Amino acid sequence: MSGLLKDKVAVITGAGRGIGQATAFLFAKEGAKLFLCDLDKKPLDETVSKIKSAGGIAEGIVCDVTKKEDCKKAMKAGADLGNGSIDILTNIAGITRDKILHTMSLEDWNFTLNVNLTGTFLCIQSAAPYMRDPAKEESKSGKIKTRSIINISSTSARGNIGQVNYASSKAGIIGLTKTVAKEWARFNITCNAIAPGVIETRLTQVRKEGEDFGIPEEQKQMIKMLQKQTGLARELGQPEDVAKVALFFASDLSAYVTGQVLTVAGGMIGTI
Ligand SMILES: NC(=O)c1ccc[n+]([C@@H]2O[C@H](COP(=O)([O-])OP(=O)(O)OC[C@H]3O[C@@H](n4cnc5c(N)ncnc54)[C@H](O)[C@@H]3O)[C@@H](O)[C@H]2O)c1
Repeated sequence: MSGLLKDKVAVITGAGRGIGQATAFLFAKEGAKLFLCDLDKKPLDETVSKIKSAGGIAEGIVCDVTKKEDCKKAMKAGADLGNGSIDILTNIAGITRDKILHTMSLEDWNFTLNVNLTGTFLCIQSAAPYMRDPAKEESKSGKIKTRSIINISSTSARGNIGQVNYASSKAGIIGLTKTVAKEWARFNITCNAIAPGVIETRLTQVRKEGEDFGIPEEQKQMIKMLQKQTGLARELGQPEDVAKVALFFASDLSAYVTGQVLTVAGGMIGTI
């Protein structure tokens, strides 16, 4: 452990699986006190207990980021770990419901926009009393801590066949990120986004019968071929690749960086 996040309190949504889980493991290794949220209790509990058995500090709560009351409860409990202050908010919860535009139901559109975009908005708004308010207090003594918000966009924000709902939600996250960066800069709160390409998680596994997420087998093969022929020498991107960039935005290494969107796509043509 190099202690990049020593004593910082970090809230992470979507921490039960994939990128959120990898981020939780890495932040814990770097000394953060973690408050983890996920819709699904079992993977959330597993993440918390793995961190604890490795000697880290973590608590968790089931939270649906589309529900304002859940978000408020989660942020308050997260702040309780830090005497009323949250240092890092990492909004990772997200979902896909892919369909081409002319077959996309309003339900699938609203569902995806709600989880990805509204969920991120609700978490940031609910964290305001624990990020903005402590900063106001600190400003009286002239020394405001650096706090950070990290959102997850996607290379799909630039448009992707079959993802009109997802692409719109992830493009919205860029606007949200840049606005928070401007509104909260005076409180020394940075707000940046990561735009992953294709990362191996539940969302990019070959779609199973009866599941709403995942991708067709042929698409997965095509992505692997593209990576091999045009990307960095690697099979596919892993959750840890994104977690490391989240660590940069969460740590004081990026204390003078805000409103940025960093692509993490291994140089693969088609995603960058
Ligand atoms: N995997 C990729 O290739 C990729 C690429 C670009 C962006 N992303 C984004 O990265 C983020 C993490 O995705 P992942 O690939 O790790 O997927 P994942 O499915 O492995 O993990 C997402 C987690 O979010 C949780 N979640 C879903 N809806 C929620 C809700 N309403 N409230 C709280 N938690 C909820 C899930 O239970 C799950 O544990 C998402 O925002 C996703 O859009 C992923």
